[in-house]
Amino acid sequence: MLKIDLKTLKVEAEKEAEKAKNSKDLNDVFKKYLGKKGEITQILRSLKNLPEKERKKTGKSANQLKQEIEKSIEEKRKKFQVPSYESQDSIDITLPGKKPAIGHLHPLTLVKRQIEEIFQAMGFSVIEGPEIENEWYNFDALNIPKDHPARDLWDTFYLKDGLLLRTHTSPVQIRFMEKNNPPFRIIVPGRCFRHEATDASHEINFYQVEGLMVGKDISVANFKAVVEEFLSRFFGKPAKVRLRPSFFPFVEPGFEVDVTCLICKGKGCKVCSRTGWLELMGAGMVHPNVLKAGGINPKNWQGFAFGVGYDRLAMMKYKINDIRLFFTGDLRFLKQF
Ligand code: PHE
Repeated sequence: MLKIDLKTLKVEAEKEAEKAKNSKDLNDVFKKYLGKKGEITQILRSLKNLPEKERKKTGKSANQLKQEIEKSIEEKRKKFQVPSYESQDSIDITLPGKKPAIGHLHPLTLVKRQIEEIFQAMGFSVIEGPEIENEWYNFDALNIPKDHPARDLWDTFYLKDGLLLRTHTSPVQIRFMEKNNPPFRIIVPGRCFRHEATDASHEINFYQVEGLMVGKDISVANFKAVVEEFLSRFFGKPAKVRLRPSFFPFVEPGFEVDVTCLICKGKGCKVCSRTGWLELMGAGMVHPNVLKAGGINPKNWQGFAFGVGYDRLAMMKYKINDIRLFFTGDLRFLKQF
């Protein structure tokens, strides 16, 4: 009796497998016979109730049957599978291609390019200078004499033979003035280095943009207009600046420049310590000694200069709270840009 049952089961199962139109149908067939509550499974489970002799015999045929049905289902399943790319002799050129992972620019590069674009639109040229400097360009020519305490403002990495890693982009002011006659307006984006402890807003290598505009009657008012225009375009909303008197040996008068807080628009919030202002850059009117060092007669020419950390600008723009993130190479950070 059981024997007949098994045979009919086999025929039925194979028939149904053959009829299956897709893998879902096949799964149903599998479930019906070989699933947890499948017919064959149940037979196998009930074996334990048979007398030993019969159990052995039936067990053997039931197991064989199970394998056979599994085999026919598998055979059929192969027919539904799309042949894999590798096993094909010819390439189906209508298949969509694999998209290569495309790289992207570092946030600092994006910001640098945007700054260059804005200043170029205002008639400034983009100039570069060396990262390894000597004391003359980094200090002396900028009106910072040897042994003057002002030199301590810049914690310097010294190299051999009087060379050093530039602590700011200001030395390029001198290099440019030596070779060019006024009037001119330039910006100098570049990498700078300072030997100092790092924290969320300080890195030993960071980025500055120097600005220098020299002409017959360039004034502080011109400077204010230029930075306000730049900042408004950079942040995409009107920016106001205020100047606070400050000291840098290479300018006179010198200022610290604050911009209205972008978060609260000047009302006062946590980011700006409730002042409504964010400290942004150093600036001033180029010191006569600096013009002289660059070979320009301060009796005929005057101008303004500024230096702004563009990693700081990137932090404000993208709301990044730790400058060190720029250099860790952490893809979770970088992929956001
Ligand atoms: N070089 C100054 C600094 O790095 C910034 C600055 C540039 C200040 C130009 C005034 C004029 O701190």
